[in-house]
Amino acid sequence: MTDETALHDYPSLFSLKGKVAVITGGSRGLGLNAASAFLQAGCSQVFITSRKAAACDRAVAQLNALPNLQPGARAISVPADSSTLAGIQSLVSQVRQHTSHVDILFANAGATWGAPFDTHPDAAFQKVMDLNVKSVFLCAQQFAPLLQKRATVDDPSRIIITASAAGLGVGTLGAQGTYAYSASKAAAIHLGRNLAVELGPRHVLVNAICPGFFPTKMANGLLAMTGGLAKHAAANPARRLGRPEDIAGVVVYLASRAGSHVNGAAIEIDGGSVWSHGGMHEAGVAEPKL
Ligand SMILES: NC(=O)c1ccc[n+]([C@@H]2O[C@H](COP(=O)([O-])OP(=O)(O)OC[C@H]3O[C@@H](n4cnc5c(N)ncnc54)[C@H](OP(=O)(O)O)[C@@H]3O)[C@@H](O)[C@H]2O)c1
Repeated sequence: MTDETALHDYPSLFSLKGKVAVITGGSRGLGLNAASAFLQAGCSQVFITSRKAAACDRAVAQLNALPNLQPGARAISVPADSSTLAGIQSLVSQVRQHTSHVDILFANAGATWGAPFDTHPDAAFQKVMDLNVKSVFLCAQQFAPLLQKRATVDDPSRIIITASAAGLGVGTLGAQGTYAYSASKAAAIHLGRNLAVELGPRHVLVNAICPGFFPTKMANGLLAMTGGLAKHAAANPARRLGRPEDIAGVVVYLASRAGSHVNGAAIEIDGGSVWSHGGMHEAGVAEPKL
Protein backbone atom coordinates (compact mmCIF):
# COMPACT_ATOMS: atom_id res chain seq x y z
CA MET A 1 0.00 0.00 0.00
CA THR A 2 1.36 3.46 -0.83
CA ASP A 3 1.95 5.88 2.00
CA GLU A 4 -0.28 8.85 1.15
CA THR A 5 1.34 10.99 3.84
CA ALA A 6 4.74 10.75 2.14
CA LEU A 7 5.55 14.01 0.28
CA HIS A 8 8.90 14.17 -1.43
CA ASP A 9 11.17 16.61 0.46
CA TYR A 10 8.42 18.91 1.76
CA PRO A 11 10.88 21.54 3.12
CA SER A 12 12.07 22.31 -0.44
CA LEU A 13 8.58 22.40 -2.03
CA PHE A 14 8.49 26.23 -2.32
CA SER A 15 12.25 26.72 -2.65
CA LEU A 16 13.80 28.47 -5.67
CA LYS A 17 17.34 27.65 -4.57
CA GLY A 18 19.82 28.22 -7.41
CA LYS A 19 17.19 29.32 -9.96
CA VAL A 20 17.78 32.08 -12.51
CA ALA A 21 14.93 34.55 -13.13
CA VAL A 22 14.30 37.42 -15.57
CA ILE A 23 11.69 40.04 -14.66
CA THR A 24 10.41 42.56 -17.20
CA GLY A 25 9.09 45.72 -15.55
CA GLY A 26 11.21 44.67 -12.56
CA SER A 27 12.36 48.13 -11.52
CA ARG A 28 9.29 48.93 -9.39
CA GLY A 29 5.79 47.85 -8.43
CA LEU A 30 4.69 44.24 -8.80
CA GLY A 31 7.87 43.27 -10.68
CA LEU A 32 10.06 44.51 -7.83
CA ASN A 33 7.82 42.72 -5.31
CA ALA A 34 8.36 39.50 -7.28
CA ALA A 35 12.13 40.09 -7.59
CA SER A 36 12.42 40.41 -3.82
CA ALA A 37 10.41 37.21 -3.35
CA PHE A 38 12.42 35.24 -5.93
CA LEU A 39 15.71 36.23 -4.30
CA GLN A 40 14.47 35.52 -0.78
CA ALA A 41 13.13 32.13 -1.96
CA GLY A 42 16.68 31.23 -3.04
CA CYS A 43 17.26 32.38 -6.63
CA SER A 44 20.93 32.79 -7.47
CA GLN A 45 20.45 35.41 -10.21
CA VAL A 46 17.52 37.75 -10.79
CA PHE A 47 17.72 39.99 -13.86
CA ILE A 48 15.87 43.29 -13.54
CA THR A 49 14.83 44.96 -16.75
CA SER A 50 12.86 48.10 -17.64
CA ARG A 51 13.48 51.01 -20.02
CA LYS A 52 15.27 53.28 -17.54
CA ALA A 53 18.78 52.12 -16.61
CA ALA A 54 18.89 54.28 -13.49
CA ALA A 55 15.64 52.74 -12.22
CA CYS A 56 16.98 49.19 -12.82
CA ASP A 57 20.24 50.10 -11.04
CA ARG A 58 18.31 51.50 -8.05
CA ALA A 59 16.15 48.37 -7.80
CA VAL A 60 19.19 46.10 -8.04
CA ALA A 61 20.99 48.02 -5.26
CA GLN A 62 17.92 47.64 -3.02
CA LEU A 63 17.59 43.93 -3.79
CA ASN A 64 21.27 43.20 -3.25
CA ALA A 65 21.04 44.83 0.20
CA LEU A 66 18.36 42.34 1.35
CA PRO A 67 19.69 40.61 4.49
CA ASN A 68 18.64 37.01 3.76
CA LEU A 69 19.94 36.13 0.28
CA GLN A 70 21.71 32.86 -0.55
CA PRO A 71 25.53 33.22 -0.56
CA GLY A 72 26.57 34.71 -3.93
CA ALA A 73 22.99 35.47 -4.99
CA ARG A 74 22.47 38.76 -6.78
CA ALA A 75 20.19 40.94 -8.79
CA ILE A 76 21.58 42.23 -12.10
CA SER A 77 20.47 45.32 -14.03
CA VAL A 78 19.76 44.74 -17.76
CA PRO A 79 17.86 47.78 -19.09
CA ALA A 80 15.87 47.34 -22.32
CA ASP A 81 12.61 48.36 -23.95
CA SER A 82 10.57 45.17 -24.02
CA SER A 83 7.87 46.65 -26.27
CA THR A 84 10.04 46.02 -29.37
CA LEU A 85 11.72 42.95 -30.84
CA ALA A 86 15.06 44.81 -30.98
CA GLY A 87 14.73 45.70 -27.30
CA ILE A 88 13.95 42.09 -26.34
CA GLN A 89 16.87 40.80 -28.41
CA SER A 90 19.16 43.27 -26.62
CA LEU A 91 17.76 42.01 -23.31
CA VAL A 92 18.46 38.37 -24.21
CA SER A 93 22.03 39.17 -25.24
CA GLN A 94 22.65 41.10 -22.00
CA VAL A 95 21.32 38.14 -19.98
CA ARG A 96 23.50 35.71 -21.99
CA GLN A 97 26.58 37.60 -20.80
CA HIS A 98 25.87 36.28 -17.28
CA THR A 99 24.17 32.89 -17.72
CA SER A 100 23.70 30.10 -20.26
CA HIS A 101 20.18 29.29 -19.03
CA VAL A 102 17.06 30.85 -17.49
CA ASP A 103 14.57 29.00 -15.24
CA ILE A 104 11.88 31.66 -14.74
CA LEU A 105 10.66 34.40 -17.09
CA PHE A 106 8.26 36.85 -15.43
CA ALA A 107 6.68 38.75 -18.36
CA ASN A 108 5.32 41.55 -16.25
CA ALA A 109 5.94 44.90 -17.96
CA GLY A 110 2.68 46.55 -18.92
CA ALA A 111 1.11 49.85 -19.90
CA THR A 112 -2.36 51.30 -19.53
CA TRP A 113 -4.35 54.21 -20.92
CA GLY A 114 -7.49 55.84 -19.60
CA ALA A 115 -9.72 57.85 -21.96
CA PRO A 116 -13.42 58.04 -22.79
CA PHE A 117 -14.87 55.70 -25.42
CA ASP A 118 -15.59 58.47 -27.96
CA THR A 119 -12.04 59.80 -27.97
CA HIS A 120 -10.01 56.70 -27.09
CA PRO A 121 -6.84 57.31 -29.15
CA ASP A 122 -5.60 54.97 -31.86
CA ALA A 123 -1.96 55.42 -30.75
CA ALA A 124 -2.79 54.48 -27.16
CA PHE A 125 -4.50 51.28 -28.31
CA GLN A 126 -1.39 50.33 -30.28
CA LYS A 127 1.00 51.11 -27.42
CA VAL A 128 -1.00 49.06 -24.91
CA MET A 129 -1.42 46.05 -27.22
CA ASP A 130 2.26 46.10 -28.22
CA LEU A 131 3.57 45.94 -24.65
CA ASN A 132 0.83 43.90 -22.96
CA VAL A 133 0.35 41.26 -25.66
CA LYS A 134 2.90 41.24 -28.49
CA SER A 135 5.88 41.72 -26.21
CA VAL A 136 4.75 38.83 -23.98
CA PHE A 137 4.78 36.57 -27.05
CA LEU A 138 8.15 37.90 -28.27
CA CYS A 139 9.72 37.54 -24.80
CA ALA A 140 8.55 33.91 -24.63
CA GLN A 141 9.85 33.27 -28.16
CA GLN A 142 13.23 34.97 -27.70
CA PHE A 143 13.87 33.46 -24.24
CA ALA A 144 12.68 29.95 -25.24
CA PRO A 145 16.18 28.60 -26.01
CA LEU A 146 17.50 29.74 -22.60
CA LEU A 147 14.36 28.48 -20.82
CA GLN A 148 14.66 25.05 -22.46
CA LYS A 149 18.37 24.66 -21.73
CA ARG A 150 18.01 22.89 -18.35
CA ALA A 151 14.27 22.19 -18.29
CA THR A 152 13.14 18.61 -17.66
CA VAL A 153 9.82 16.87 -17.07
CA ASP A 154 10.52 16.86 -13.32
CA ASP A 155 12.03 20.34 -13.16
CA PRO A 156 10.32 22.44 -15.82
CA SER A 157 11.09 26.09 -16.50
CA ARG A 158 8.32 28.67 -16.06
CA ILE A 159 6.86 31.68 -17.79
CA ILE A 160 4.56 33.79 -15.62
CA ILE A 161 2.54 36.49 -17.39
CA THR A 162 1.13 39.46 -15.50
CA ALA A 163 -2.40 39.80 -16.85
CA SER A 164 -5.12 41.44 -14.72
CA ALA A 165 -8.53 41.00 -13.16
CA ALA A 166 -9.53 43.48 -15.89
CA GLY A 167 -8.79 40.70 -18.41
CA LEU A 168 -11.38 38.46 -16.73
CA GLY A 169 -14.13 41.00 -16.11
CA VAL A 170 -14.87 44.37 -17.65
CA GLY A 171 -12.24 47.05 -16.99
CA THR A 172 -12.82 50.69 -16.12
CA LEU A 173 -15.56 52.40 -18.18
CA GLY A 174 -16.47 56.07 -18.57
CA ALA A 175 -14.10 59.04 -18.39
CA GLN A 176 -11.06 56.84 -17.56
CA GLY A 177 -12.09 53.97 -19.86
CA THR A 178 -9.41 51.26 -20.22
CA TYR A 179 -10.83 49.47 -23.28
CA ALA A 180 -7.46 48.63 -24.84
CA TYR A 181 -6.00 47.61 -21.49
CA SER A 182 -8.85 45.28 -20.55
CA ALA A 183 -8.84 43.67 -24.01
CA SER A 184 -5.03 43.34 -23.91
CA LYS A 185 -5.11 41.54 -20.57
CA ALA A 186 -7.80 39.11 -21.79
CA ALA A 187 -5.54 38.47 -24.79
CA ALA A 188 -2.53 37.94 -22.52
CA ILE A 189 -4.44 35.30 -20.52
CA HIS A 190 -5.43 33.44 -23.67
CA LEU A 191 -1.96 33.77 -25.14
CA GLY A 192 -0.72 32.12 -21.94
CA ARG A 193 -3.03 29.14 -22.50
CA ASN A 194 -1.78 28.74 -26.07
CA LEU A 195 1.85 28.94 -24.95
CA ALA A 196 1.15 26.46 -22.12
CA VAL A 197 0.12 23.80 -24.63
CA GLU A 198 2.85 24.69 -27.14
CA LEU A 199 5.72 24.83 -24.64
CA GLY A 200 4.57 22.21 -22.09
CA PRO A 201 6.16 19.38 -24.12
CA ARG A 202 9.39 21.43 -24.15
CA HIS A 203 9.17 21.45 -20.32
CA VAL A 204 8.30 25.14 -20.05
CA LEU A 205 5.07 25.78 -18.10
CA VAL A 206 3.13 28.99 -18.71
CA ASN A 207 0.64 30.63 -16.36
CA ALA A 208 -0.90 34.06 -15.88
CA ILE A 209 -1.59 36.05 -12.75
CA CYS A 210 -4.58 38.38 -12.58
CA PRO A 211 -4.05 41.05 -9.93
CA GLY A 212 -6.81 43.34 -8.78
CA PHE A 213 -5.83 46.81 -7.57
CA PHE A 214 -2.36 47.16 -6.02
CA PRO A 215 -1.30 50.74 -5.17
CA THR A 216 1.66 51.05 -7.58
CA LYS A 217 2.74 53.96 -9.77
CA MET A 218 0.56 52.61 -12.59
CA ALA A 219 -2.55 52.18 -10.44
CA ASN A 220 -2.31 55.18 -8.12
CA GLY A 221 -3.56 57.73 -10.67
CA LEU A 222 -6.62 55.66 -11.59
CA LEU A 223 -7.30 54.85 -7.93
CA ALA A 224 -7.22 58.55 -7.05
CA MET A 225 -9.42 59.57 -10.01
CA THR A 226 -12.05 56.94 -9.24
CA GLY A 227 -12.65 57.53 -5.55
CA GLY A 228 -9.39 56.86 -3.71
CA LEU A 229 -7.75 53.95 -1.91
CA ALA A 230 -10.19 53.73 1.00
CA LYS A 231 -13.24 53.55 -1.29
CA HIS A 232 -11.65 50.81 -3.40
CA ALA A 233 -10.59 48.86 -0.32
CA ALA A 234 -14.13 49.08 1.10
CA ALA A 235 -15.63 47.83 -2.19
CA ASN A 236 -13.37 44.76 -2.28
CA PRO A 237 -14.89 41.54 -0.84
CA ALA A 238 -11.70 41.09 1.24
CA ARG A 239 -11.95 44.76 2.33
CA ARG A 240 -8.42 45.69 1.24
CA LEU A 241 -6.20 46.28 -1.79
CA GLY A 242 -3.30 44.05 -2.81
CA ARG A 243 -0.02 43.92 -0.88
CA PRO A 244 3.50 42.89 -1.98
CA GLU A 245 3.19 39.56 -0.13
CA ASP A 246 0.11 38.70 -2.21
CA ILE A 247 2.21 38.83 -5.39
CA ALA A 248 5.18 37.15 -3.68
CA GLY A 249 3.14 34.15 -2.53
CA VAL A 250 1.63 33.39 -5.93
CA VAL A 251 4.73 33.90 -8.09
CA VAL A 252 6.90 31.79 -5.77
CA TYR A 253 4.23 29.06 -5.79
CA LEU A 254 4.03 29.11 -9.59
CA ALA A 255 7.81 29.14 -10.02
CA SER A 256 8.58 26.43 -7.44
CA ARG A 257 8.13 22.64 -7.35
CA ALA A 258 4.81 23.31 -5.60
CA GLY A 259 3.45 24.68 -8.89
CA SER A 260 5.12 22.19 -11.22
CA HIS A 261 1.86 20.67 -12.53
CA VAL A 262 0.06 24.00 -13.00
CA ASN A 263 0.02 24.96 -16.68
CA GLY A 264 -2.28 27.32 -18.59
CA ALA A 265 -3.87 28.70 -15.43
CA ALA A 266 -4.92 32.29 -14.73
CA ILE A 267 -4.79 32.96 -10.99
CA GLU A 268 -6.73 35.88 -9.56
CA ILE A 269 -5.00 37.90 -6.83
CA ASP A 270 -7.79 40.36 -6.16
CA GLY A 271 -9.60 39.47 -2.92
CA GLY A 272 -12.49 38.21 -5.08
CA SER A 273 -13.20 41.60 -6.69
CA VAL A 274 -13.64 40.21 -10.19
CA TRP A 275 -16.65 38.20 -9.01
CA SER A 276 -18.17 41.07 -7.05
CA HIS A 277 -19.91 44.25 -8.06
CA GLY A 278 -19.36 45.72 -4.61
CA GLY A 279 -22.87 47.13 -4.67
CA MET A 280 -21.73 49.69 -7.25
CA HIS A 281 -23.68 48.23 -10.14
CA GLU A 282 -26.82 48.73 -8.10
CA ALA A 283 -26.00 52.45 -8.16
CA GLY A 284 -25.43 52.19 -11.92
CA VAL A 285 -21.67 52.70 -11.62
CA ALA A 286 -19.24 50.12 -13.00
CA GLU A 287 -16.47 49.35 -10.53
CA PRO A 288 -13.11 50.37 -12.05
CA LYS A 289 -10.42 47.74 -12.49
CA LEU A 290 -6.77 47.83 -13.52
N1 LIG B 1 -1.01 47.77 -9.97
C1 LIG B 1 -2.17 47.21 -10.28
O1 LIG B 1 -3.22 47.50 -9.68
C2 LIG B 1 -2.22 46.18 -11.38
C3 LIG B 1 -3.38 45.40 -11.49
C4 LIG B 1 -3.45 44.43 -12.49
C5 LIG B 1 -2.38 44.24 -13.33
N2 LIG B 1 -1.27 45.02 -13.21
C6 LIG B 1 -0.16 44.77 -14.14
O2 LIG B 1 1.02 44.57 -13.40
C7 LIG B 1 2.16 44.85 -14.22
C8 LIG B 1 3.12 45.74 -13.46
O3 LIG B 1 2.46 46.97 -13.20
P1 LIG B 1 2.70 47.82 -11.87
O4 LIG B 1 1.39 48.07 -11.28
O5 LIG B 1 3.78 47.20 -11.06
O6 LIG B 1 3.16 49.20 -12.54
P2 LIG B 1 4.43 50.14 -12.33
O7 LIG B 1 4.78 50.26 -10.89
O8 LIG B 1 4.10 51.36 -13.08
O9 LIG B 1 5.62 49.33 -13.04
C9 LIG B 1 5.67 49.17 -14.43
C10 LIG B 1 7.03 48.62 -14.78
O10 LIG B 1 7.07 48.34 -16.19
C11 LIG B 1 8.21 48.99 -16.75
N3 LIG B 1 7.95 49.28 -18.15
C12 LIG B 1 7.00 50.08 -18.68
N4 LIG B 1 7.10 50.10 -20.01
C13 LIG B 1 8.12 49.27 -20.35
C14 LIG B 1 8.72 48.87 -21.57
N5 LIG B 1 8.30 49.33 -22.75
N6 LIG B 1 9.77 48.00 -21.53
C15 LIG B 1 10.24 47.55 -20.34
N7 LIG B 1 9.71 47.90 -19.15
C16 LIG B 1 8.67 48.76 -19.15
C17 LIG B 1 8.43 50.22 -15.85
O11 LIG B 1 9.74 50.74 -15.88
P3 LIG B 1 10.28 51.86 -16.95
O12 LIG B 1 9.35 53.02 -16.84
O13 LIG B 1 11.69 52.15 -16.49
O14 LIG B 1 10.27 51.19 -18.27
C18 LIG B 1 8.16 49.57 -14.49
O15 LIG B 1 9.29 48.83 -14.06
C19 LIG B 1 1.59 45.48 -15.50
O16 LIG B 1 1.52 44.49 -16.51
C20 LIG B 1 0.18 45.89 -15.09
O17 LIG B 1 -0.70 45.96 -16.18
C21 LIG B 1 -1.16 45.99 -12.25
